[in-house]
Amino acid sequence: MGSYTESAMDTSGKIPLLTPYKMGNFQLSHRVVLAPLTRQRSYGNVPQPHAILYYSQRTSKGGLLIAEATGVSDTAQGYPETPGIWTKEQVEAWKPIVDAVHAKGGVFFCQIWHVGRVSNKGFQPNGQAPISSTDKPLTPQTRANGIDVARFTPPRRLRTDEIPQIVNDFRIAARNCIEAGFDGVEIHGAHGYLIDQFLKDQVNDRTDKYGGSLENRCRFALEVVEAIVNEIGADKVGIRLSPFANYMESGDSNPEALGLYMAESLNKYGILFCHMVEPRMITVGEKTECPHSLVPMRKAFKGTFIVAGGYDKEDGNQAVAENRADLVAYGRWFLANPDLPRRFELNAPLNKYNRDTFYVPDPVLGYTDYPFLEDTA
Ligand SMILES: Cc1cc2nc3c(=O)[nH]c(=O)nc-3n(C[C@H](O)[C@H](O)[C@H](O)COP(=O)(O)O)c2cc1C
Repeated sequence: MGSYTESAMDTSGKIPLLTPYKMGNFQLSHRVVLAPLTRQRSYGNVPQPHAILYYSQRTSKGGLLIAEATGVSDTAQGYPETPGIWTKEQVEAWKPIVDAVHAKGGVFFCQIWHVGRVSNKGFQPNGQAPISSTDKPLTPQTRANGIDVARFTPPRRLRTDEIPQIVNDFRIAARNCIEAGFDGVEIHGAHGYLIDQFLKDQVNDRTDKYGGSLENRCRFALEVVEAIVNEIGADKVGIRLSPFANYMESGDSNPEALGLYMAESLNKYGILFCHMVEPRMITVGEKTECPHSLVPMRKAFKGTFIVAGGYDKEDGNQAVAENRADLVAYGRWFLANPDLPRRFELNAPLNKYNRDTFYVPDPVLGYTDYPFLEDTA
């Protein structure tokens, strides 16, 4: 495969990222996906009306959007003002947001999440310890602004007999997503949160059937997948994984083997997509060069393969043209450019993103005030 150039367009004259793609039952009109982005503007864990504008701004007809990480239960939170989907009130609050995306022809999946030990007792019911695969504490981490430090309460290791309850929380959350109108769910198995705390051998020090061997460490993730598939159907289920990342002290000694084992195991459930974070994203926000690649996992997984992490237009086009991915998810560029697919189409300049406002709780600032192309012209 030669390297891709701007002139390598398909017969319709479209760049690879803007060609249509059939993902299961969904006819997507292009391949530029909104990556899940925590924005911390859901006061009291309830999605707010300002999210209607935010998500509808980022909707295009036939475009796929993945909603921000959304808690599955009252033990799932670790950050202020992140949304949940375990109460009736939260489900009702999501409905007008989902409706707005559908009204513009978007396909909308909800990312469901449990932070595990990336939390502290202030976020937990009755001030209890966060739950995890382990009781190993996480060392304090500098927050995204580079100044504040997040502190974590040492976690409580889940007993073997408690794990089915957590699997069940994911199952109910998935059902709630469908009730809220979402087209499907993305299970958050990435970035050092609960599922990743089981997957990675740097964290998981269990001696029961959920720890030790690769197969055992993947058991919890696959039980969550199976429960959700049985609840809402495999055609509505995706999962996000970051085998190579060591974010939140969740590294693995053999990320290739982990990624491949998961890709192959997921085939048994016939899920819709696997969304993998590029190895170059060692942390959530910094891109580094590295020799690893997701191609073996892409080849192993039979469904739609989504990649994310440090993509711009050029290398997104290249990934699609070289068949290294079906779809490319964009985080920061989509955050700052509500009309990102259109800007790609017109080869227009992009708005710069402002890290300082990624997580501020403001309903407008750094949220719905990034200009559209028409506004800047
Ligand atoms: C503000 C912000 C919030 C994020 N929130 C989430 C999240 O809720 N769930 C998730 O899986 N990844 C999250 N990420 C990671 C992004 O989805 C994406 O993988 C990352 O930004 C790298 O892609 P990019 O280079 O296109 O931005 C977040 C990243 C940023 C910058």
